[in-house]
Amino acid sequence: MAKRGGGYRCSECGRAALAWTGQCPGCGAWNTLEAEAAPTGGAAGRAARSGRAQGPAPKPVPLGSVPSERSDRILAGIGELDRVLGGGFVPGSLVLVGGAPGIGKSTLAGMALANIAAHGAGVLYVSGEESAAQIRTRAERLGGAALEVPVLAEPSLESVLAAVEAERPAVCVIDSVQTLSVGDSAPGSVAAVREATGALLESAKRLDVTMILIGHVTKEGSLAGPRALEHLVDCVLHFEGERERTFRTVRALKNRFGATSEVGVFEMREGGLAEVADASARFVGEVHSAPGSVVLCAMEGTRPLLVEVQALVAPTEIVPPRRTATGVDRNRLALVLAVLARHAGVNVSAADVFVNVAGGVRVDEPGADLAIALAVASASSGTVLSSGAASSASRPGAAGEGRPLACFGELGLTGELRHVAHAERRVGEALKFGLERVLGPRPAEGTVVGLDARETVADALRAAGAGRRLREAA
Ligand code: TYD
Ligand code: MG
Repeated sequence: MAKRGGGYRCSECGRAALAWTGQCPGCGAWNTLEAEAAPTGGAAGRAARSGRAQGPAPKPVPLGSVPSERSDRILAGIGELDRVLGGGFVPGSLVLVGGAPGIGKSTLAGMALANIAAHGAGVLYVSGEESAAQIRTRAERLGGAALEVPVLAEPSLESVLAAVEAERPAVCVIDSVQTLSVGDSAPGSVAAVREATGALLESAKRLDVTMILIGHVTKEGSLAGPRALEHLVDCVLHFEGERERTFRTVRALKNRFGATSEVGVFEMREGGLAEVADASARFVGEVHSAPGSVVLCAMEGTRPLLVEVQALVAPTEIVPPRRTATGVDRNRLALVLAVLARHAGVNVSAADVFVNVAGGVRVDEPGADLAIALAVASASSGTVLSSGAASSASRPGAAGEGRPLACFGELGLTGELRHVAHAERRVGEALKFGLERVLGPRPAEGTVVGLDARETVADALRAAGAGRRLREAA
């Protein structure tokens, strides 16, 4: 058998390959395969490769006799973060926090450590990225107990592990996992990041230290390198939002100890990240009564959230015309435009279409379809959608007074409005903020008070007063 070399590993998805290829066979990314060091030799290595264990075979135990996991969580003292985590940090767990540079990862981690330290638990902030003086500057802005947090500006994994062993903090932040230097691997390479995480995982479990690993994301939005460690860690949090906007959201992409659908909303202020517990009120308060604007009753995990979906439809000579989606999925927009053209007589094939969720929030759910459709139809026909539009449907130009129109629902390819989960909670949230009229699909069972249920997208457009072109054409 030929001598085995180190092989290659994809820096995006972590897939191993024996030979180098331009395109990764796993994720299809180009030029991401990197050479890996040869596997270490020795008896253990040989045994592992041959698949045979050394010594007596281990004895499996019945699950009932396994001691159950302790549930005494460590609260970060930041309500929105604790909720996303499923009730705080689980002792000895590994939490990966990803996000673009400047989004507020270090700020959030610093605030959590300050709160935990203020409750008397041991903490440690390790930074391979910033100097201790820079971290102090941030802590001064945060105020409170932030200056009490012990810091270690140290890029070497070995030293970090030694410090964790000596200090035994309850919670340790590693900022960032990509800046840790491991042996002679280049910091940030897949090999280094995996090895560092493996070592931190081992000491987290052995010493019962909660490790918060901060990771940068690439411009495509995936965690560079750390994507390959998503399966190693217990929880993956993703920090989103645009840097120039104040709103930021934190969502769990993976959580071994809780739901993955929860979203925390924050606002970056002087003095750190402030929780936005009444996000719906904030977003509804900023709604403009103008063509192309509609309120979406979205669900963020178990929590309803009202957001404004805006569309701009502008004639263009460019072929193909532009389709830009911010905060909603681009493919969803393409589907909605196709359904509108085919089933509702709204044709925007000679126009640029921009769709945006105001406030920098992302809504990743099919329930957003109807809002996109109504916003585009309203922008295209120049009509303002409002709660009062139903009574003034015969004189669409008069619509505009009254509260904004709210809606939700998924579009089927045949133009039907499809049922989505939590209709009652969505409508309830709209009513709570004074939006008296909510358009949506017929609920799966029973009736929902306050819901104006419709069968098809054309029907919903007519009800909203955005189907003027449709009626004129008919
Ligand atoms: P930071 O947490 O350093 O981002 P990351 O670690 O994700 O790269 O902070 C991001 C931005 O937040 C930075 O531009 C400064 C700003 N900021 C405030 O506006 N107010 C504050 O109180 C703090 C600490 C930071
Ligand atoms: Mg940082």
